[in-house]
Amino acid sequence: MRRILLLAASVLVIVAAGILAYFYGALPRQRPAPEFVINYTPELVARGDYLVNEVLLCLDCHSERDWTRYSGPPVPPLGAGRSCIDKDSKAVGINFGSGGFPGLMCIPNITPDDATGIGAWTDGEVARAIREGIGRNGQALFPIMPWFMYQVMTDEDLAAVIAYLRSMPAVYNDTPATELDFPLNLLNRLYPRPLDGPVPAVDRNDAVAYGEYLSKIARCEFCHTPRIRRSIDPVPGRFMAGGVPFFMGQDMHYSKNLTPHEDGMGLWTREMFIARFKMHTEPFPLTREEDNSEMNWVGFSGMTEEDLSAIWDYLQTLPPKELVLLDRAD
Ligand code: HEC
Ligand code: HEC
Repeated sequence: MRRILLLAASVLVIVAAGILAYFYGALPRQRPAPEFVINYTPELVARGDYLVNEVLLCLDCHSERDWTRYSGPPVPPLGAGRSCIDKDSKAVGINFGSGGFPGLMCIPNITPDDATGIGAWTDGEVARAIREGIGRNGQALFPIMPWFMYQVMTDEDLAAVIAYLRSMPAVYNDTPATELDFPLNLLNRLYPRPLDGPVPAVDRNDAVAYGEYLSKIARCEFCHTPRIRRSIDPVPGRFMAGGVPFFMGQDMHYSKNLTPHEDGMGLWTREMFIARFKMHTEPFPLTREEDNSEMNWVGFSGMTEEDLSAIWDYLQTLPPKELVLLDRAD
């Protein structure tokens, strides 16, 4: 009997060691930082400026935000990182249920500072972080960093984004490394998906295809699609159907259903859609935090009508779904 117990115990130890060896040895899946050649020109930096500040809104996450003004504009020093959140935080725009954030997360400095930003990184290392979710030291980036939306970003646009980031003022700001609690620290290693080659350009004359592309890189999909808990995969049948909860002051806000169902965009027209984006171009002061929006409308208001129109065309092709509010109170 003792022998059998001993045997069972050693089998368990071996299995546990095997699982840990897999998680720590084979994961996260990654490739070495690729060769990524950028021909820096003023036009490229200008395209990057448009993408970063009007479409991708990278600096919304990578800066502090002023929630006393409409749509929480990011405030200087832009791109220098954001104060940490932990289990006691009810960070605006981020809802991890009543337990707060399971660990410590500090959104890092992405200005070209050599010591604390991306100044000393190669272009390939920055490219891999943005599209493949792998940090400079090979660690998995927690997917609040929406690399899985950026996976489709074309080499051309990615080059523009990196060129623009490198043109920003370098700011010294050392942010602590992210630490995740068990089991998220293990799960996090499962997410990254390496690319295996270049990402070719998307045909801008094909409005639906270009709109789909924009709706990913501008993160419409990220905020408007409920995802399976502790996964980066969409809840089946709820693609772009909204209902994702966000904290705002004492209230909970839910993202809009963007499918052509009458709960969503069904009663809207292209003109209304574009006009909604052009409605607020300045982050005016607010008296009640609850009236704010975690969607940075002011940031997006600089998107061209052509790009907004392409997103509209794409949304019209989605299967209509009714709105279901996702429950994330647990
Ligand atoms: C929704 C919030 C969010 C958005 C939007 C976002 N990021 Fe991030 N980013 C993060 C978080 C969080 C991390 C850190 C993840 C971690 O430490 O595990 C991160 C990490 C990074 C890193 C790695 C830096 C380091 O020091 O390890 C780079 C580079 C980066 N982001 C660039 C970008 C760029 C460029 C964009 C826009 C195309 C962008 N991010 C948009 C949240 C965001
Ligand atoms: C950071 C998360 C986030 C991102 C990114 C985001 N949204 Fe939203 N969106 C929301 C939330 C939350 C609401 C509900 C609050 C509001 O209306 O401002 C909303 C509301 C909307 C509405 C309804 C507005 C109204 O007046 O009823 C539309 C249309 C919309 N989003 C479209 C988009 C599109 C298109 C994109 C991509 C370009 C996008 N959103 C990106 C979170 C987001």
